[in-house]
Amino acid sequence: MTDKELIEIAVKSKDRSLADYSHFRVGAAIVTDEGKVYHGANIENASYSLTMCAERTAIFTALVEGERNFKTIAIASDSKSFISPCGACRQVLYEHCGEDLDVIMTNSAGDYKKVKIKDLLPFGFSDKDLNK
Ligand code: THU
Repeated sequence: MTDKELIEIAVKSKDRSLADYSHFRVGAAIVTDEGKVYHGANIENASYSLTMCAERTAIFTALVEGERNFKTIAIASDSKSFISPCGACRQVLYEHCGEDLDVIMTNSAGDYKKVKIKDLLPFGFSDKDLNK
């Protein structure tokens, strides 16, 4: 799975977005170490704070399918700016994918930036910090 292929899936996933309130469609696609891809889109609710972001829709879908090892997530929106995961999504991705997850942030012109989740969430908190 190339970066471009993963981005294409994220872009297509925007069509599944339910964004009646913000009209800001987001799609995401996450690939496992074995090359399996799970996609997601943002799902909004009339009780606005219950909204679920595209990134978490994708990772949660993968997790309930039993996946635990992830390589890259691609995110797409209709914005000219590079779409960047919110704080809540950074936390969830950091814990369930590990600090070396690659995050691909795209813009509507088709450009992209690829960064590690540890660079988006420096000094991130995870299960290791619970000192179990
Ligand atoms: N949103 C995402 O799905 N992912 C992001 O990375 C940023 C924001 C969604 C949440 C909400 O449905 C809409 O975009 C506007 O914030």
